[in-house]
Amino acid sequence: MSAILPPEDRVWWKQPLDRVEGTWVVIALIWCLIMFFMMPYWHVFGKQNLANEAYRTTPEVYMKKAQDMVDKFTVRTETDQKIPVVAPPAGSDVYLVARLWSWWPILELEAGKSYRIHLMSMDWLHGFSLQPENINIQVHPGYDHVLTVQPTRAGTYSIICNEYCGINHHTMSSKLYVK
Ligand code: CUA
Repeated sequence: MSAILPPEDRVWWKQPLDRVEGTWVVIALIWCLIMFFMMPYWHVFGKQNLANEAYRTTPEVYMKKAQDMVDKFTVRTETDQKIPVVAPPAGSDVYLVARLWSWWPILELEAGKSYRIHLMSMDWLHGFSLQPENINIQVHPGYDHVLTVQPTRAGTYSIICNEYCGINHHTMSSKLYVK
């Protein structure tokens, strides 16, 4: 019997299982289980996957929290657009606003300290891509997405939008400082 031709006996599932076939079923099953348990294992021990939380919210509520943080912790402004650079205290909630086609404000964090970074879009779907760390998070409108992070290395990181969001998608970039 060939796998290419139709089976001679139409009720082929009543035939006994071939040893080779059975072996492959067992191998596939074991591999599936390994892959399945690797997901929680890697989440806990891999130190790569972020533990995300997401909450429903509105642009008004979110923007108010971001504005409060900017009012309190702005240390300087950058570029011609006078984008505030915000240095919030360690352990605090940090708000990053994504909208067509910018990130606001610029964050300045301390290495070795933990922060709760909030991400939300004011309009369409954007993507938070932190380079060169290669952290990628979808940023949705209507959802406050929270990442608990502890930057390990000082430096200037790039934030780029990695979800196509319209004509100026390619200009939607920013920076993140770690001191
Ligand atoms: Cu925002 Cu692409």
